[in-house]
Amino acid sequence: MKAIIVHGGAGRVVKNIEETRKGIQIALFNGYKLLTSKNDAVMAVVEAVKTMEDNPIFNCGTGSTLNILGEAEMDASLMFISHIGEEPKFGAVAVIKSVKNPILIAQKILEETDHLLLAGEGALRFARKLGFEPYNPVTEERLKQLEEYKQKGDFGYFSKLSNYLRWETVGAVAIDDKGGIAVATSTGGILGKLPGRVGDTAIIGGGTYVSSFGGASATGHGEGIMKLLLTEYATNLMSGYPATYPFLGEHAPAFHGVYNPDLRWNTPLVAYFLPRLFHFHDSIGFQFCRRWVEGCLGSQTQILNPT
Ligand code: GLY
Repeated sequence: MKAIIVHGGAGRVVKNIEETRKGIQIALFNGYKLLTSKNDAVMAVVEAVKTMEDNPIFNCGTGSTLNILGEAEMDASLMFISHIGEEPKFGAVAVIKSVKNPILIAQKILEETDHLLLAGEGALRFARKLGFEPYNPVTEERLKQLEEYKQKGDFGYFSKLSNYLRWETVGAVAIDDKGGIAVATSTGGILGKLPGRVGDTAIIGGGTYVSSFGGASATGHGEGIMKLLLTEYATNLMSGYPATYPFLGEHAPAFHGVYNPDLRWNTPLVAYFLPRLFHFHDSIGFQFCRRWVEGCLGSQTQILNPT
């Protein structure tokens, strides 16, 4: 059984809702194409996330939100388990600048180093050594957004940014016929962040996690997600409860992109799916996110049937 879920983040999608939907749809199909042709969950999630990194609508890769100095400092991570009971593998990159696809660098860190996470200058040096060309991911749109924030924001570093928060971090979770489960997540972080800030996306168990029980990709306020080790918590809950459980209680206030590999259960809000049916959503806020952005989040779930 093969399946893939793609998310485009929990940020404010007040503009360009159709374009955002379309972007997620394209990412989903690109990932799905590889999942069916190669039967490889890792290839599928990396392709889906790379597709979104190349789409300036999303807060990752080209079009990442900018830090207070106007720089795109990006985080991305990839985790997979080849089948149930195996040791999972993880690779992440943090505060990397001047590259096109952070998720590909996270993949190289996973595959070609003994480390889990490379950050900043060291990560960039590693990327260049592997041939990743210099690239400017800063867009005019994001520069304008930063300018607006600077004019109106009060630099409380997240405490008073509710009108500006954009969490369109992206992610994908897939399972292949071999029993492999993979999760990829990528982000530019939070608008106006301090240089050097690392969000949950680069942190194992924060923004990305896989275990024998399932996989999870988070979006939302990274500092909150990291404190809860949210995706680790979510997948562990799947060992004893249906994946719906954390969403119904007070236990895990913010995450999405969670599913159970046996496909019998899923979350009510996040795309659940049946074989050959694909659901996606482009903006979902759970309890925690809602506290921050109540009233401005959309919540759309769509079902795609590629057959
Ligand atoms: N969840 C993305 C971030 O806080 O960086």
